[in-house]
Parts: sequence; C-alpha cells; structure tokens
Amino acid sequence: MQKIVINGGRPLKGEVAVSGAKNSVVALIPAIILADEPVTLDGVPAISDVDSLIDIIETMGASVDRQGETLVIDPRGIRDIPMPYGKINSLRASYYFYGSLLGRYGQAVVGLPGGCDLGPRPIDLHLKAFEAMGAIISYEGEYMRLSARENGLNGANIYMDTVSVGATINTMLAAVKAKGRTVIENAAREPEIIDVATLLNNMGAHIRGAGTDEIIIEGVEQLHGTRHQVIPDRIEAGTYIALAAAVGEGIRVTNVLYEHLEAFIGKLSEMGVRMTVEEDAIVVDKQENLKAIHVKTSPYPGFATDLQQPLTPLLLRAQGRGSIVDTIYEKRVNHVPELARMGADITTVGTKITYSGPNKLTGAPVKATDLRAGAALVIAGLMAEGTTEITNIEFILRGYSNIIEKLTQLGADIRLVD
Ligand code: UD1
Repeated sequence: MQKIVINGGRPLKGEVAVSGAKNSVVALIPAIILADEPVTLDGVPAISDVDSLIDIIETMGASVDRQGETLVIDPRGIRDIPMPYGKINSLRASYYFYGSLLGRYGQAVVGLPGGCDLGPRPIDLHLKAFEAMGAIISYEGEYMRLSARENGLNGANIYMDTVSVGATINTMLAAVKAKGRTVIENAAREPEIIDVATLLNNMGAHIRGAGTDEIIIEGVEQLHGTRHQVIPDRIEAGTYIALAAAVGEGIRVTNVLYEHLEAFIGKLSEMGVRMTVEEDAIVVDKQENLKAIHVKTSPYPGFATDLQQPLTPLLLRAQGRGSIVDTIYEKRVNHVPELARMGADITTVGTKITYSGPNKLTGAPVKATDLRAGAALVIAGLMAEGTTEITNIEFILRGYSNIIEKLTQLGADIRLVD
C-alpha cells in the first residue's frame, strides 16, 4: 500500500505544466474503437485511468504503442470480446465502451462502471439514449448486455432529462455510425465534449453543435485514422492554481485555456486572489487578505463540481464565513472530516459545507476517499505545519499526471512511500 508523505509549510515557486485532460482522454480512447485505421493521440496524461483503458483495449485485441505522451492505437485487431469483469469495473469511464462497442459491432457485453463514490451515479440517461436508437438492453447482475436490432442502430431525437457529460458523449459514440440523424437536446456543454466531437469529426464523423445544448449527428458508414491533441486538463489546471494561491510565492501554471476556467477564476477573483492571465498560462502571485466566499457548483460553464474539493483548502485561508453547495453530487463532502482532522473549522450541515477562517492547519494522517478529495488533501498537506500522511492515494494517481514530480519541482517536500 502506497502513501503520500508531505512536510508542509514550505513556500512553493516556479512553473508547472498542465497535462492532457483526464475526462477527455478516457472518452477518446474508447472512441478510437470506431475507426478502421490507427489513431494517434498527443498530450496523453500519465494517469492510471489511461493505463487501465489501454489494458482493456489490448485485451480486446487492439495494438497500442505509447511513447511518453503520444499514444498510437491500432483498432484493426479488435474483436467483439465480452468484457464483463476485470479492469472494466475499476473506472467510471468504462461506460464509454457501451456506446463505442454498440456503435461498432451493434452489440456489447460490458461490466458495470466503477470510479469514485460520490453517492448514487446512475446511467439511466445513457441507456435511454441507446434504447431510443433501437438497442435492447439487459442487466445481467454484474454486467450489461446491449444489442442493436438486426438492421443496426437508427438515429433518434433524444432529450436528456439531466445535463450529463457521460450520457452526451456516449450518445455521440453510439450515433456516429447509426443510420440517419440523431439530435441530442439539453446536451452537456463541457470542453471535453467538444474534444471528443473534434476527434470523431477528424475520423470522418458528422457532428455539429458540440459545446452547445443541441448536438446533431448524421450517421456515416466508416471512420478513418487521424492524429489528435488532447485538450489541457482544466481540473488539473484549477487544482494547481488553487494550490499556487494557497502556498505559492509566484507560480506560473502553463498549458491552461483560460476560457475553460472562467467560473473558477471569477470566484478566485471574488476572494481577492491576484492572477495574471497570459495566452496559455496563468501566473498566481503570493496572496494575502483573502475573503471567504460562497460556492455553488453547476454544469459547464458553471463552477465545476470537480474543482469544489481542490478549492476548499484555499477557502480555509480566507477571512470570514463561507459555504459550498454541490448541486451535481450532493454527497461530494468526504474531504470535510479529513480537513477538520487537520484543524480546519469546517462542517457539513445537510448537503451544505460551511467553513470559517482563517485557519491554521496541522499535519495529520488522512485518507483520500476519492480523486478530488485526494487533491484537496495534498493542498492541505502543503499548507499545514508538520507532516501529513495521505493513504488511499490510488485515487489521486487515477487523475493527476506526475503529481509528485510536478510538486517537487515547485519546491514541495513530498514523497511517495510504500
Ligand atoms: C463526468 C466527469 C466527472 C464530473 C461529472 C460532472 C468523466 C469521466 N467524469 O462524470 O469528473 O464530476 O462529469 O461534471 O468525464 N446523471 C443521471 N443519470 C445518468 C447520468 C448522470 O441522473 O444517466 C446525473 C448524475 O448523478 C449527476 C449529474 O447527472 O448528478 C451529472 O452527471 P454526469 O455529467 O453524467 O457525470 P459523469 O459523466 O459520470
């Protein structure tokens, strides 16, 4: 069992580069199954979710060549192999194989998705969309069987009852090779959806409107190879910006698209965080006199639920009382008791987090309960006086590329211990 040990209280300085987006790449890899030729991805982050996806597609028969951040996937050897168990159950994004296998083979036998426990995470909207396109779905205990009728999937008009990133992307994956036109209404608008649509269009798909709440897909018969640069990870960027504001003495975060972070940057400005926005970087100065604020998460372009936990330690430095309400995952509060263990004045009342500051944190043994809670604990550990030991760090390594190396380069005393 590995853990992260941090000796906190050291000021950090320098430059840190953001990697490719986790939530894009976990959809881009399953999307490549739909191609009839090799596809190259550049900017692939070194995270364990990518390792798991590579493992899964290699098991299916794809050949994969990974050199640094470049991944070449040749899907031609893929066979329609049932994938009910194993790695498939370890990550949430394995649900993208439902859409891509269904789109490619007209059938799929795939295990249920895993991932972080953020309370109930249904996939009813994904299944409703596949059914609207003519798929027959049966739930067989630990896995799902999906099959198109004899004449394959047909385009359909689909209204999403809730704005869902996963259901929007999965519907696109199933629809790109379906017969006729699919229209997704109330689609999610996250940048990762545009990234997946860009890859698919460069493979020969006809998708319009990605990034708006109406996406129109005209089915095509074949998809070919292409080369694609994964967009920067806006959540990793936000995490480093929050960290820079919490413990930095001048940190430049590079490979950032400001347009993807407007809500987050807006809230930091409200706290009084001083930053300079450059073309593809954000420079965060040393901060004093921060003000407590209220944060409410909502679908893009609102404040991202994935950034609520990484922001929390910075909020604890601010003067006054504030709150966080997560409207996407009400139970995304597992970082709160761990931060309280480090001395923070923070509690959960119902589904609302309230805090009061400024706080002085003290190092303590804490547990990462999910990916973004883990990021919050890393930042808190860097802020705290003394030593913080974080266990369950496999969650953190699922989503933060080279985090130990990146923080060490900024001057942090952080190490991975077996
Ligand atoms: C994606 C992200 C995750 C992020 C989340 C919200 C990936 C791999 N993960 O997760 O990091 O926190 O978006 O921005 O991209 N819902 C339903 N039925 C469904 C699907 C979703 O009710 O069939 C609900 C969910 O419970 C949640 C809301 O819709 O309350 C949004 O979820 P969704 O956008 O689908 O999240 P994911 O795509 O799973």
